Amino acid sequence: MTPLIDPFARAISYLRVSVTDRCDFRCTYCMSENMTFLPKADLLSLEELDRLCSVFVQMGVQRLRITGGEPLVRKGIMTFFKGMSRHLESGALQELTLTTNGSQLARYAADLAACGIRRINVSLDTLDEAKFARITRWGRLPQVLDGIRAATAAGLRVKINAVALKGFNEDELFSLLDWCAGEGHDLTFIEVMPMGEDMSPLRLDQYWNLKDLRARLAERFTLTDLTERTGGPARYVKINETGQKLGFITPLTHNFCESCNRVRLTCTGELYMCLGQEDMADLRAPLRASPDDAALEQAIRAAIARKPKGHDFDYARQNVTGKIRGQITRHMSHTGG
Ligand code: GTP
Ligand code: 5AD
Ligand code: SF4
Repeated sequence: MTPLIDPFARAISYLRVSVTDRCDFRCTYCMSENMTFLPKADLLSLEELDRLCSVFVQMGVQRLRITGGEPLVRKGIMTFFKGMSRHLESGALQELTLTTNGSQLARYAADLAACGIRRINVSLDTLDEAKFARITRWGRLPQVLDGIRAATAAGLRVKINAVALKGFNEDELFSLLDWCAGEGHDLTFIEVMPMGEDMSPLRLDQYWNLKDLRARLAERFTLTDLTERTGGPARYVKINETGQKLGFITPLTHNFCESCNRVRLTCTGELYMCLGQEDMADLRAPLRASPDDAALEQAIRAAIARKPKGHDFDYARQNVTGKIRGQITRHMSHTGG
């Protein structure tokens, strides 16, 4: 089958699938306090998700990242992971993985490993219990730390995602680094993106750019830029003194879109071709219209043909109402990042 190539000659080999918009946390940079979730009847069933992902795999997707909301709160989700593991076994899929808040890992880590998952990304912005409760609103740190331990015990590699937040975790830069080194976890810092309606003031208050974070690291360590690329947004540096590798995701200060390899599917079957744009294609209609996949494949190709060059996030530019340039109305939990 012809591979999926977008108008900028980028091969699309990576699909992020948000299996639910719900979450058991309410991180302030991701959700508002009172979220209205999609009615359950609108969701694709697990069978439909399986069929849709399998079509993408047939069309050349080699890496599948399951996201949410929190993917592990979707009922029956292990059935879906188990189903997807057949594509790992056949060799069609190189990687099946997920991004999680860690709250359900104590329960599921062993099952995930049994499905062929090798590494997972866990969101963790602070190691302070009170601050963790504040940033996640509903989360409890010990539960997440237990989950991370269970993941490690099950043989999963863990990458910690820490959103860099001004006045919040600036003082934990070195302690996060030390903790990850000690536990053997990878660590990536992320700039907070302007996602979610009515959240502009919050984002501006929260934004801590990674140039500054890097400069603080450089006061204590020598940093070497690494050339390795995964096709994702992260760029890596090595701390010469310790050998530790760190990831930086800098959508605001540096644009990585030229090498973008991914599209994202929501739990209702919308395909977003870019995290930072509003355009999407409905795949649920062609999926439900026929048991034959031809119309679906055509809809996917038509969508990829509209993939934009990149996002336009820019905190330096705001209009009179304070709306940040490039801001996206949907919340991060809608597309899972
Ligand atoms: P791999 O590339 O598979 O290692 O994962 P990742 O780091 O891309 O995935 P993860 O789910 O851990 O996401 C980390 C952060 O990167 C989140 O804040 C995502 O929103 C962000 N992110 C992932 N892909 C993109 C992208 O294409 N564009 C932008 N702007 N951000 C992205
Ligand atoms: N900006 C940057 N990253 C975000 N995440 C959630 N909301 C935002 C945002 N507004 C992160 C989470 C998780 C990943 C999927 O996205 O912390 O690690
Ligand atoms: Fe849930 Fe992740 Fe959003 Fe936090 S960032 S509310 S854990 S989906």
